[in-house]
Amino acid sequence: MEIWGWVFIGILFLADFVVKIEPFKLGRSQPTERISGSAGDVLEDNPVGRLKVFVYELPSKYSKKILQKDPRCLNHMFAAEIYMHRFLLSSPVRTLNPEEADWFYTPVYTTCDLTPNGLPLPFKSPRMMRSAIQLISSNWPYWNRTEGADHFFLVPHDFGACFHYQEEKAIERGILPLLQRATLVQTFGQRNHVCLKEGSITIPPYAPPQKMQTHLIPDKTPRSIFVYFRGLFYDVGNDPEGGYYARGARAAVWENFKDNPLFDISTEHPTTYYEDMQRAVFCLCPLGWAPWSPRLVEAVIFGCIPVIIADDIVLPFADAIPWEEIGVFVDEKDVPNLDTILTSIPPEVILRKQRLLANPSMKQAMLFPQPAQPGDAFHQVLNGLARKLPHDKSVYFKPGERVLNWTAGPVGDLKPW
Ligand SMILES: *[C@@H]1O[C@H](CO)[C@@H](O)[C@H](O)[C@H]1NC(C)=O
Ligand SMILES: *[C@@H]1O[C@H](CO)[C@@H](O)[C@H](O)[C@H]1NC(C)=O
Repeated sequence: MEIWGWVFIGILFLADFVVKIEPFKLGRSQPTERISGSAGDVLEDNPVGRLKVFVYELPSKYSKKILQKDPRCLNHMFAAEIYMHRFLLSSPVRTLNPEEADWFYTPVYTTCDLTPNGLPLPFKSPRMMRSAIQLISSNWPYWNRTEGADHFFLVPHDFGACFHYQEEKAIERGILPLLQRATLVQTFGQRNHVCLKEGSITIPPYAPPQKMQTHLIPDKTPRSIFVYFRGLFYDVGNDPEGGYYARGARAAVWENFKDNPLFDISTEHPTTYYEDMQRAVFCLCPLGWAPWSPRLVEAVIFGCIPVIIADDIVLPFADAIPWEEIGVFVDEKDVPNLDTILTSIPPEVILRKQRLLANPSMKQAMLFPQPAQPGDAFHQVLNGLARKLPHDKSVYFKPGERVLNWTAGPVGDLKPW
C-alpha cells in the first residue's frame, strides 16, 4: 500500500505536465498528431470515391413513423441506426442508380421500441427485419442476386442480430437466418460468439456529441482521480443472485475496491460525470448486460485511459484504432489485482497513452456528429465497407441458386409484422 501510494503521487505529479486533451472541436482543420503505423493512417481514409451505396426506399413505417412514436430513440445508445440512415441519404457515396451500387442499405429502425424507462425491446425486431427483407427481395432484383451478400444492416442491439438482450436467449436464437449472408454493422463485439459473425463491422455505441462538448473543462486541469467508474455493479432486477451480471466482473470491482482511496467508484451518476472523467487517469470500462456501453466512447473523448475488463471483446473499428496502445486490458479473472496492475504501469507509458488519446482523429472516430465530419464514425463504417470491395464473384448466384431458408428460425419470427 505504501509503495502504491507513492507511485500514485508520482503519476499525479507527471499528470500535470501532460498536454491534456485538446477540446475536440468537430470540424476543425488544424494539424493533428498522426498515429504511427498503418492503423492511424486508416482512420483518416476518405471513403468518397471508393464505394457507392444504394439506399432502399421503404415505407415510412420502417423508419420515420417509428421514430415519431418515440423520439427518445434519437438519444439512446443504439441511435446509430437512425443517424446512419440520415447520413447516407445525403452522403456523396449514395447512388440513386442501384445498377452501379457496391452496397445496398435497408433503413429499418429495429431498436426503436422502448420501454417507459427507455430500454429497447428487441422482441419485434426479427419480424420487422424479415418484413423489410421480404419487401426489398420482392420489389428489387438485387437481394436475390446474392441473398444479401452485398447488403449491410445496422443492428446495434445488445447482441446484434441475435435480437435478445439476455445472452442465453440470444445465443439460443443465433443471428437471424435471413441475415446470414449480409454484412452486419453492430455494437456487439465478442470473439467466438454466435452473435458476432465473420466480417461484421463493430461500431461504437451512440453518445451525444454536443452534450459532451458542453462539459469540456480547461485543458490544464490536473488529473487528480486515479481510477474512475460510475455504473451498476449488480443488476438486482435481472440477476437477483448477483453472480452472472457482467460475468461477475463488476461485482468484483466493487467488492475489492469500494474502500480503496485510489478508486473513485459508485453507482451514483453525478452531474459532474463528464468533468470527473477529465480529472481521472484511468476510467474503468467493464462489460455489462450489453457487453458494450458508451463508457468507452466517453473515456476516449475525455482523454481518460480506458481500462477494458471484458475478455474476448472486439472493440469498435479495431482494424483502424490501436486499442492496445491507447487502453489497458485487464482479464476478468485479474480484477482483484486491478490496483497493482494499474499502479505498476510506468508513468511514461501512461503519458504515451494520454498523448495518443489526445489525437483528435481518435475522438472523431468514436462519434456520430450532426452534421457528419471527416473521419467520424459514419466515415469509419464506410471505410470498413470499402475495404471489403470488390465482392468475391462467388457471392453472386447462378440462376435458380438459393442458400437461405426463409422458414428457418423460431416460429414466432415468421408471423407478419
Ligand atoms: C426473389 O426470390 C423470391 C423467391 O425466393 C421471389 O418470391 C421473388 O419474387 C424474387 N424477387 C424478384 C424481384 O424476382
Ligand atoms: C428450412 O427450415 C425449416 C425449419 O427449421 C425446416 O423444417 C426445413 O426443412 C428447412 N428447409 C430446408 C430446405 O432446409
